[in-house]
Amino acid sequence: MARILITSAIPYINGIKHLGNLVGSQLPADLYARFMRARGHEVLFLCATDEHGTPAELAAAKAGKPVAEFCAEMHQVQAAIAKGFGLSFDHFGRSSSPENRALTQHFAGRLADAGLIEEVSERQVYSNADKRFLPDRYIEGTCPNCGYDKARGDQCENCTKQLDPTDLIDPRSAISGSTDLEVRETKHLYLRQSALRRDLDAWIDSKTDWPVLTTSIAKKWLHDGDGLRDRGITRDLSWGVPVKKGTEPWPGMEGKVFYVWFDAPIEYIAAANEWTNARGAPDAEWERWWRTDKGAEDVRYIQFMGKDNVPFHTLSFPATIMGSGEPWKLVDYIKSFNFLNYDGGQFSTSQGRGIFQDQALEILPADYWRWWLLSHAPENSDAEFTWENFQASVNKDLADVLGNFVSRVTKFARSKFGETVPEGGAFGPAEEALIAELSRRLQTYQDLMEAMEIRKSAAELRAIWVAGNEYLQSAAPWSVYKTDPDAAAAIIRLSLNLVALYAVLSAPFIPDASARMLKAMGTSDDSWPGDDLGQALARLGPGDAFEVPEVLFAKITDEQREDWQERFAGQRG
Ligand code: 2FM
Ligand code: ZN
Repeated sequence: MARILITSAIPYINGIKHLGNLVGSQLPADLYARFMRARGHEVLFLCATDEHGTPAELAAAKAGKPVAEFCAEMHQVQAAIAKGFGLSFDHFGRSSSPENRALTQHFAGRLADAGLIEEVSERQVYSNADKRFLPDRYIEGTCPNCGYDKARGDQCENCTKQLDPTDLIDPRSAISGSTDLEVRETKHLYLRQSALRRDLDAWIDSKTDWPVLTTSIAKKWLHDGDGLRDRGITRDLSWGVPVKKGTEPWPGMEGKVFYVWFDAPIEYIAAANEWTNARGAPDAEWERWWRTDKGAEDVRYIQFMGKDNVPFHTLSFPATIMGSGEPWKLVDYIKSFNFLNYDGGQFSTSQGRGIFQDQALEILPADYWRWWLLSHAPENSDAEFTWENFQASVNKDLADVLGNFVSRVTKFARSKFGETVPEGGAFGPAEEALIAELSRRLQTYQDLMEAMEIRKSAAELRAIWVAGNEYLQSAAPWSVYKTDPDAAAAIIRLSLNLVALYAVLSAPFIPDASARMLKAMGTSDDSWPGDDLGQALARLGPGDAFEVPEVLFAKITDEQREDWQERFAGQRG
């Protein structure tokens, strides 16, 4: 039995996320966590909300709420949605927690002691009307290059030219529209990442088993131009982790907070501490997952994230950990994802385009989404959600292949033998062949799941369902029954056991349907099959009671599809 630490990128607090966010980190992380638990490993699966930064402040202001209150509410909303999708976090934390505040300040103190923090004076735009410094992207004005009048201080969206806020013609605050701006001197802390280049380079080089998507992004940033340049880790904002050197004040840094990308990954650690504090458990319990001097040396740590997050996880966060000089666990494997597009364009939170997580759950149960998203995970390239494809996959895979198998078997069994597993009959060559095929496929499925090959795992699981269907079709118990009821009983006994087996194997993908299948089979034995599949297919014995379950998956009609297509075509209001 291994110990596996799993974290999913922590979603921003500023709004409800779309399906692209779900498939890019939380959902595959959940799939893997569920699988590893089912295999008997000890798993700690952590996620949290990413609550700091200007976007959180602005979203709160837009909602007319104090930012702390807004974050507390949105955390509840996101937690409820995560539950709705069956995400099996051991703890869903908050980056604004006291635990993260203390740890973030602790890391900053250690980095300063190691000489890895530099104080830098900068000139930044200050808005007198907003009474705050404005981050580059909250300064708008006219682009000096193309004349576009809504260019942002960091880049012109129209001509893509990279800008400096002082380049803008007629600059104004994007928050209030005020033009009463001035340039002021302000001091910030910079993390000297560049001093760790060699260590980072050697560390990434040692990760020969990482997906190409992950290492290519890391290498690009490590070697291209100023990818690893020293970065400011503080901001002139009021919402965030106050800048301190450990527990001591940091002279000259009063009123400043750490940059959201500095404290967010530290929340992966803090979430474990929140997890024990919530139960009043001793620190040793979370430290054995995170401190290699306290038991974490044999933990395997896996992170899941979208490709846009890779640089922060392959360079910045490891720099924080390495630079601390303390024995914190470094990530062992990073599974990263491309983007999911929506019907010919991009999902966009800011533009309200696509299907948002709350809306998805309003129209269909979680398993429908889980199945489609995972079986189409954007692993090797960007993927695209279309309603036609969604309808076709759900109807074929879930309704026709799996749902129909369960329904045919249970209904036929009930009609001929009543609601108990029939006895009599023996397995013949067809049954032996099926068991042999399933044994092979099960091995492949396990290997693919262990390798986090998500699409391929889904395809193999589907093939396992198909094998049962094909067996049932050719064994034809409905004909056999007429001449040899005993032989039909053996076919049905095996088929009912297949339903239970499918429930167990499918649970990481479609946990609700799996639970219903097991319940209908009258068993709570959800143990993963061992090497002898024949044994697993005797889970249900003669005389055991079962029920015909309600329809597992309803087909999506053309009318529904058209309706949803229209409803989700525009922008979310
Ligand atoms: O992209 C995002 O949604 C970020 N909030 C992810 C942060 S992951 C981590 F570093 F905490
Ligand atoms: Zn321009």
